[in-house]
Amino acid sequence: MHEFLYQLPKIELHLHIEGSLEPELMFKLATRNNIELPYATVEEVQSAYQFDDLQGFLHLYYQGMNVLRTKQDFYDLAMDYFKRAREEGVVHIDMHFDPQAHLQRGVPLEVVMEGLLQAKGEAEAALDLSVGMIMAFLRDRPADEALNVFEQAAPYWKFLDAIGLDSAEQNNPPAKFKALFERAKEVGLVRVAHAGEEGPADYIAEALDVLDVQRIDHGVRCLESKSVVQRLRDEQVVLTVCPLSNVSLKVVDTLAEHPLPRLLEAGLKVTISSDDPAYFGGGLLTNHTACAEAFCWDREIFRQLNRNALEAAFVDEARRNELMQRLARA
Ligand code: ADE
Ligand code: ZN
Repeated sequence: MHEFLYQLPKIELHLHIEGSLEPELMFKLATRNNIELPYATVEEVQSAYQFDDLQGFLHLYYQGMNVLRTKQDFYDLAMDYFKRAREEGVVHIDMHFDPQAHLQRGVPLEVVMEGLLQAKGEAEAALDLSVGMIMAFLRDRPADEALNVFEQAAPYWKFLDAIGLDSAEQNNPPAKFKALFERAKEVGLVRVAHAGEEGPADYIAEALDVLDVQRIDHGVRCLESKSVVQRLRDEQVVLTVCPLSNVSLKVVDTLAEHPLPRLLEAGLKVTISSDDPAYFGGGLLTNHTACAEAFCWDREIFRQLNRNALEAAFVDEARRNELMQRLARA
């Protein structure tokens, strides 16, 4: 099974590039930029990665990304992940990134965009990898700040596939960002949002109704509402489920108890992603192998999950067709 999952062309729809920052690169960038880290060794970093909930993780996630200062840093961050993902058999990544988390630290938007876009361009030219760009907004910060950053990003809209909504979900309902999402729709951008990770099932319906999102990131708490499940099934809304993330952030106690099998049984359009692989114990291949062990899924389930992802991926039709054929042959 491991060999099959390794060679299966895998599609990742939910990946925060800042969450791919491995401790080794964190130390390298800290040294390069003369930044003091609260850790002495890679082992110390890893032992700090024990989270009680989303908020506990977000604290270390925003702290870790403080080493990212220059265009070269953002390029290295993305290229480092792209190469590792390719080695695990990933062929497409829709990449979230958090501009507000960098602007807040005095890192200009151009630095972030130019570093990430250069890595995307080179990966697409040389690595047999396609990359979608999702500019994400922090729901625990003011809505007008998000709108201002989105307007500031106008020169880069043409390079974006979608906008997203992430960070602390509880008490930050989707409707808070109605104006931003309307504006993004007006300029022709697709919308996605995290919903039903730590927040209630209602937030999933609200993201669909008020933000007009095309995909729901996570969405695992939909099972708490029959009507939300029915709607997700009727509309075949794609859920980007992140099993190891949900275990690390204690959305579920163990992978064996993860709702993934129930989501599939309910007829929902499920996909699998890694979310923040440097923090949650592994990338997309590890998420696949862990599910194979926990749920005893057969090959066809994994093919189907990746077909679901590919159908919804931000990729041109020629590459989508090519990858669909490679998936069928796997
Ligand atoms: N930002 C990075 N990872 C996230 C997650 N799992 N949920 C919400 N915001 C995030
Ligand atoms: Zn996420």
